[in-house]
Amino acid sequence: MKILIIGSGGREHALTWKLASSGHTVFCAPGNPGMATEAECLGIAIGDVDGLVRAASGRRIDLVVVGPEAPLVAGLADRLRDSGIAVFGPGRRGAQLEGSKIAAKEFFARHNIRTAEFAACRTVAEADAAIDRIGDKGDVVVKADGLAAGKGVVLCSDREQARSAARDMLEGQRFGPAGARIVVEKRLLGRELSVMAITDGERFEVLAQAEDHKAIYDGDRGPNTGGMGTVSPCRWVTPALVDRIDRDIFAPTLRGLRADGIDYRGVLYAGLMIEQTGLPWILEYNCRFGDPETQPILARFDGDLAPWLAGAAAGQLPAGSMRWDTRTSVCVVLASAGYPGKAQTGLAITGLPTARADALGPDRMVFHAGTAVRDGAIVTAGGRVLGITALAADLPSARAAAYNAVAAVHFDGMQIRRDIGDRGKSA
Ligand code: AMP
Ligand code: GLY
Repeated sequence: MKILIIGSGGREHALTWKLASSGHTVFCAPGNPGMATEAECLGIAIGDVDGLVRAASGRRIDLVVVGPEAPLVAGLADRLRDSGIAVFGPGRRGAQLEGSKIAAKEFFARHNIRTAEFAACRTVAEADAAIDRIGDKGDVVVKADGLAAGKGVVLCSDREQARSAARDMLEGQRFGPAGARIVVEKRLLGRELSVMAITDGERFEVLAQAEDHKAIYDGDRGPNTGGMGTVSPCRWVTPALVDRIDRDIFAPTLRGLRADGIDYRGVLYAGLMIEQTGLPWILEYNCRFGDPETQPILARFDGDLAPWLAGAAAGQLPAGSMRWDTRTSVCVVLASAGYPGKAQTGLAITGLPTARADALGPDRMVFHAGTAVRDGAIVTAGGRVLGITALAADLPSARAAAYNAVAAVHFDGMQIRRDIGDRGKSA
C-alpha cells in the first residue's frame, strides 16, 4: 500500500517504521529526520489542509494515517474523505471527544459511561460554586475545555488551590481560548491506566496495554509531561479488567457515537482510573494514538498493521484478533532541558545511529520525536527529542537494554527518567 503518515513525532516514527517494515511505501508530512530513513518526507505542514489533500490525491495514496489530534479536531479527516481518500482518524465531530473536555463529559453523561461528577463553568462564580459542591475539601480537578497539549489540567487538594486554578484559566487567560470554559470535576482515587482501541465505527479491537510515566521526574514527581516513558504490557492488568473496560467503556462509547450519528474510524484512546475495587472510570478520550505509548506497543505488534488501519478507515476491521509479542517492551524518552516548559533546542545530538529506527538490532528502536537536521547534523528540535524502545523476555532485561542504548546518546541538558518500569516491580 501507499500510506501517508501525518505528523512528526515519536508516535509517527513508530508507525512509519512498523508499516515500512511490512513492505509498504510510506510518505510522511512533514516527518522528521528519523522517519526520512524509512519513508519519503513531503515538506507539508500538518495545518496545510489543501496541500495535504493535493499530495494525497496526486500521489494516489491508499491510506492516510493522521498522528496528532490538532488536525483531526480541525477537520482534516473530513476534508480528505470528501476527496475520496481513505483516512485512519475520526472526523471533526468525533475528534470533539478530545477537542472539548466539556463535550466529552456531556457525551459520557448522556450515554451513561462511568465518569467523575462534573460541572462545566464559564465564570469564576460558577467555578467557585462547583468547587464547593463537588469537592469535599477542594479535592477536584480543574480542566481547560480545549486543547492545551496535555497541560490544561490541575489536580487540586484544597479549595484555595482549586479556586485559583479556575481563576487562572477563566480570567488569567492561562490557556488562551482553550480555557474560556472549564470543567470542574471530582478528583478520583485509584490506579491510572490508558487503553487504546481501534475502531471502524462498529467494532473495536483493543490494543496491548502500556503504562505511561507522565511526571517529569523520578518517583512521579514534578509537573506532568506528554509522557517520559512507557512499559508494555502492563502487568497488573488482568483479562477480567480488560473485559470490564470493553463492556463498561468502549462498547457504550461506540453505541453512543452511533446514536449521535458519528461514524468514528480511528483510535479511541481511553484515559482511565481503575478504582481499588476494579471498577473503571473514564477520565478522558484522546482521538489518536498515545505518544510515547505507541512506541513500545507497536514494538510488540506481530504482523502487518496496514490491514487494521485500512480496515478501520474503510469501515470494516479485519476478522480475527491482533497478535502480540509476549515479550516486554520499555520506552525511555529523552527530553530537552526546560521541558515540559519552554524547551531548549538546536543542540547537537551525539551517539545517535543515523540509519533506520532498528539500526541497533531488531529488538531496539530509536524513534525520533523532536529532531531536525542543521548543517548535515541532527540537532534537538522539541521538548521530547527521542524515544528509545527495547524489547526483551522480561522487564529487567528490557529496562537494561533500553537504558544501555540511552547511555550512548547525548545532548546538553538531556532529561530522562531513571525509573521507567520500576512501578512494575511491585505489581
Ligand atoms: P486528562 O487530560 O483529562 O486525562 O487529565 C490529565 C491527567 O490528570 C490524567 O492522566 C490524570 O492523571 C489526571 N486526572 C484527570 N482527571 C482526573 C480525575 N477526575 N481524578 C484524578 N486524576 C485525574
Ligand atoms: N502519552 C499521553 C498521550 O499521548 O496523550
